[in-house]
Amino acid sequence: MEPTGQIIVALDCDNRATADDIVEGLGDECRFYKVGLELLTAVGPDFIKHLVAQGKEVFLDLKLFEIPHSVAGAVRAAGALGVSMVTVHSMGGVGIMTAAVNAARDFPDLRVLALTVVTSMTDGDLADIGVGDSAQEQVLRLAQLAARVGCHGLIASPQDVAALRSVLGADGLIVTPGVALPGESSGEHARSGTPRAAIAAGASHVVVGRTVTRATDPAAAFRLVRADLGR
Ligand code: C5P
Repeated sequence: MEPTGQIIVALDCDNRATADDIVEGLGDECRFYKVGLELLTAVGPDFIKHLVAQGKEVFLDLKLFEIPHSVAGAVRAAGALGVSMVTVHSMGGVGIMTAAVNAARDFPDLRVLALTVVTSMTDGDLADIGVGDSAQEQVLRLAQLAARVGCHGLIASPQDVAALRSVLGADGLIVTPGVALPGESSGEHARSGTPRAAIAAGASHVVVGRTVTRATDPAAAFRLVRADLGR
């Protein structure tokens, strides 16, 4: 895949004007956006339809963790909006992941991605919720479960990509947030790496948020990410 198609820009904001400004500013350079719970809740699903109508791909980061019936309904609603990716928490177990995968069958372009352990969590955070294994062990266990029930891909931190690529085989999607350009502060991410390192380790896509959206010149920042991937 060529670099532009591998970059998903996270529209993490709480109003339509800011989101529209970013999308307009990036223009044809960016073809793939992630919309999360903040923006979806603030502006509603019409914005998603608007992006899709402009020919953009949308990763709707719903992070579903609900009873299977509700998960299936949310996945169908996401599919009806025309999005390409939706997320489900693998910690919710086989039932909700299976419900998500089955609900997505009606939408051939919709991919269900499983979250394992969010990148901000440490071994200590896991111990606090009663998980004795390390984050790395827990990520692997959940990834194997997600692959077994037919999820189309995984969300993986830069450090987990290589191990998860061997779990998924060549075909599955691996989408990697928590990346920062070389020399850039990694902010609060407990485990971060560069976009290029993530793709080299086996990620199919990277999610880039503030590196682009908070830059003085977002289009220039997007080109820096693309250049990092193309090196
Ligand atoms: O840090 P950045 O602004 O690049 O984050 C972009 C996206 O990556 C966010 O929308 C968030 O959902 C995701 N992310 C994550 N785990 C983190 C940090 C960010 O999944 N620790």
